[in-house]
Amino acid sequence: CGIIGRVGDGNALETLLTGLENLEYRGYDSAGVAVQNGSGIDVQKRSGKVETLIDSIENESLEGAVGIGHTRWSTHGPPTDENAHPHTDSTEDVAVVHNGIIENYAALRSRLQDNGYEFTSDTDTEVVPHLIQYYLDGGLENEAAFRRAIEELEGSYAITAMFSGEHVLYAARQGSPLVVGIEDGEYFLASDVPAFLEYTDSVVYLEDGDVVIVDEDGVEFTDLEGNPVDREPETVEWDPEEAGKGEYDHYMKKEIHEQPTSLAQAIEGRIDPENGRIALADFGPGTFADVSSVQFVACGTSYHAALYGSLSLNQAGVHSTALLANEYSVAAPPVDDETLVVAVTQSGETADTLSALRQARANGAYTVTVTNVVGSTAAREADDALFIRAGPEIGVAATKTFSSQAVMLTLLGQRIAADRRGKPPADLESLLPDLAAMPDEIERVLESSDAASIADRYRGSRSYFFIGRGLGYPVALEGALKFKEITYEHAEGFASGELKHGPLALVTSETPVFAVFTGDEDEKTLKNAEEAQTRGAPLIAVCPDDHPAVEIADAHLEIPDTSAALAGLLANVQLQLVSYHAANFLDRPIDKPRNLAKSVTVE
Ligand code: G6P
Repeated sequence: CGIIGRVGDGNALETLLTGLENLEYRGYDSAGVAVQNGSGIDVQKRSGKVETLIDSIENESLEGAVGIGHTRWSTHGPPTDENAHPHTDSTEDVAVVHNGIIENYAALRSRLQDNGYEFTSDTDTEVVPHLIQYYLDGGLENEAAFRRAIEELEGSYAITAMFSGEHVLYAARQGSPLVVGIEDGEYFLASDVPAFLEYTDSVVYLEDGDVVIVDEDGVEFTDLEGNPVDREPETVEWDPEEAGKGEYDHYMKKEIHEQPTSLAQAIEGRIDPENGRIALADFGPGTFADVSSVQFVACGTSYHAALYGSLSLNQAGVHSTALLANEYSVAAPPVDDETLVVAVTQSGETADTLSALRQARANGAYTVTVTNVVGSTAAREADDALFIRAGPEIGVAATKTFSSQAVMLTLLGQRIAADRRGKPPADLESLLPDLAAMPDEIERVLESSDAASIADRYRGSRSYFFIGRGLGYPVALEGALKFKEITYEHAEGFASGELKHGPLALVTSETPVFAVFTGDEDEKTLKNAEEAQTRGAPLIAVCPDDHPAVEIADAHLEIPDTSAALAGLLANVQLQLVSYHAANFLDRPIDKPRNLAKSVTVE
């Protein structure tokens, strides 16, 4: 979900709506705004996209300098007008927007109902305005009532509230991101920086337990009890242009095409091909010398990057596993102070990943977060953080963040192996120049790809299979995930050796098989692919031009020759393009696939 709030001169509405549009990628099944209009709080909210909200308020006079807004991704109750935020008390004295989950809402709700407060939605959020109202009715002033209500909430929240007749916003953060934007005489509250990036790049990331009060004269940062806390603004270097679609039809396509730049940014200053060493100056010398094993925790696409990192670390001789963060709490392998736990999360806010990270920390592991968002919860809670520098990613389906994560994890793996042995691994010398060449190689793939014609050729198939071995395996999984996310067609990724252990039963002439060749025992993968082809499946080989697979394949997606450690990333770009074009032919809402959200902040 997304939150925006604004205090300043003039009219807030346009800023709020722009903010909501900028935030739509975080949740978009309903949207709403509340504006302080001089005589009280005016609330407009609708299920559906922000566009629907904008259309519905066209003829309303929502004028006022202070307001809040929200885009919702449902957690409690279906996406209806009533369940959309902002929520108010019955008298509309208080309006509230909220991200996260209030775990004790049922108890609070029944207590408030017993006291005569009437609820109009199914949401957990609605307890907040009523609870505030309850304390106002008990005689407390606005600020005191807000603090008193926040104190009673259990769970995770980023909350912004305003009171009728007062040009002030109150906000609190616990377990869900909230940032303050500061401009001359204008202040913003938001769940995420892109909400207000066109107005200011001066940002304060709030911490858990913070309560802030914002009026025309400035921002007061306090803890829950009201004691001042010190929070310094940081300058965000994201270009607001970068958060726009530019010349592309979809953010996803733009982000696929940004990979040469985003990868170059990721590795900049972090490798030193001349001296045959990885710098990774983000960590002091010998940081990982005592690490005996590594666990990666992540979800979705980040899990595939984690698996990529884990396999490459195993290949470098370091014991490692990749685990789904949402499975971690029930079956985590033991950790001790020689265990490194790496949380991989582009947003840094995924609830499943945060909870695995917290568990690992509590059990004494050394933790590192690999993320795209400086100031994110996962970055701040881990012992150390490694930033992938991919820039904002708007498309819900992750693309550039995957390649940057995979590369950073490859670097991290090499660094861990080097620290443990006291010298760089043997294959590093050939890897570094290939790594430095990656941005150019990706550019070549983007310029010459046949993905569109292949997506067209296999339109209407029953199912799409992706296979790979070694580092090709996570790429196959990611290829299938991307395909199903944005085309809504059935797709599945397999370790190529597993085909014969079951999935082969599904193979027919209606199931194209995309085989990824990365140089990890390719002859075996080729045999597995042929087994599918013999049963009628069209075979699409993703490999260099001079690869033996090209001779037998029905179609070919070419990748330049490179190290086995990196070939999968070039193959991944081809598969991203296949998914993109297949979804485009089907006219899918590529940037916002149904039922999915960019960042899932509930477990
Ligand atoms: C959601 C998104 C996925 C993403 C996953 C993990 O499910 O739809 O694209 O891979 O969360 O997100 P993270 O921010 O932790 O990488």
